[in-house]
Amino acid sequence: MTRTRTQVGIVGAGPAGLFLGHLLHLEGIDSVIIEDRSRDYVVERVRAGVLEQGTVDLMRETGLGERLDRDGMRHGGVYLAFQGRRHRIDFEALTGGRGITIYGQNEVVKDLIAARCRSGRPLFYSVEDVAVADFDGARPRIYFRFEGEEHEIACDFVAGCDGSHGVCRPSIPASALRIYERDYQFGWLGILAQAPPASDELVYALNESGFALFSMRSSTVTRLYLQCAPDEDLGSWSDDAIWAELEKRLGTADGWRPNRGPIAQRGVTGMRSVVVEPMRHGALFLAGDAAHIVPPTGAKGLNLAVSDVRTLSRALAMYYREGRTGMLDRYSDTCLRRVWRAQRFSWWMTSMLHRAPGSCEFDYRRQIAELEYLTSSRAAMTSLAENYVGMALE
Ligand code: APR
Ligand code: PHB
Repeated sequence: MTRTRTQVGIVGAGPAGLFLGHLLHLEGIDSVIIEDRSRDYVVERVRAGVLEQGTVDLMRETGLGERLDRDGMRHGGVYLAFQGRRHRIDFEALTGGRGITIYGQNEVVKDLIAARCRSGRPLFYSVEDVAVADFDGARPRIYFRFEGEEHEIACDFVAGCDGSHGVCRPSIPASALRIYERDYQFGWLGILAQAPPASDELVYALNESGFALFSMRSSTVTRLYLQCAPDEDLGSWSDDAIWAELEKRLGTADGWRPNRGPIAQRGVTGMRSVVVEPMRHGALFLAGDAAHIVPPTGAKGLNLAVSDVRTLSRALAMYYREGRTGMLDRYSDTCLRRVWRAQRFSWWMTSMLHRAPGSCEFDYRRQIAELEYLTSSRAAMTSLAENYVGMALE
């Protein structure tokens, strides 16, 4: 058994765990990050790609701006498409110049891994049998196996950044947590296509057949999604059928439609809203998807993870610098205020833009009326815009 010590043990090397390690390093705080998947798996998996202004600002302030400034695509608004027309929501005009940046989550992860390597601090991939223990007391521990060898890390704190299927949250006694959950009876079929984006900004569409989203990753790669069943059989969709459905749902009367191209990757994701309260148990702090899941319609998942770990890193810095625990004690409440606000927004965007199974023609007409109101009222557009670009970080 190899025994080591660190200040903060971080479980999970997704955006939450890696960003936390980065922010702690800048504060001079030591951490060990462990990840049960391989480095290639973590870097390759295709995830969301919308960064809020606050996330972009934080990346720049902490030395992660170089590739982001070169390859990120700054967008000053989005389109909403329904009844054959596209309507632009002008974020910059409505929020005093704020916007979003399209930059794949896996690119963020690559930048964070590079920063971790520069810091020289430990990051273990492909670990097995991870367990967290004794976080009720002052000496929490993390156990795992790496290259056949058993490891024990003694920590001051454990950060559970291990996503929605991790081990940290289930290690907390169920009686100490309250879990709020909502299932949507649909999912998204997502594709990555080798095709130049046909629009310079995202298009969220509602059509009689359901929701579709046009997004992008670069000047040559388009990312597209279609509402489908949560357990949709991908095998039953030919490339042609996917494109035909995307064109039907996204296309507008002026002839606009996405460009077709070879489909490089495809997948189905179900949609859920989950909040775990509180986000702390003793010396174990949950952050990112380990504590909450949002449906992707509001593009909040990655940004919430970043905001959690920023709050946590500041609280830990306060503790190590001044011995004060106040910010750590307030961590859960501080994060949950933002989490619930993002849950509200993501639920609202999702409900407005999808056709729920069992909903009726009345609901569809009401949704169209809501979109018509939204795209004609400056007050309503401002509400969407300020939530989409995100609240300033605390
Ligand atoms: N031990 C170590 N690592 C684990 C374990 C475990 N037992 N279980 C899971 N992990 C790892 C996963 O393999 C993953 O790499 O924890 C990481 C969690 O990363 P994410 O799922 O990306 O979650 P998070 O870092 O909170 O980022 C949230 O990711 O899911 C998207 O939409 C979400 O964009 C948001 C972001
Ligand atoms: C994406 O580009 O993957 C994306 C964009 C907007 C969303 C969700 C996903 O709301």
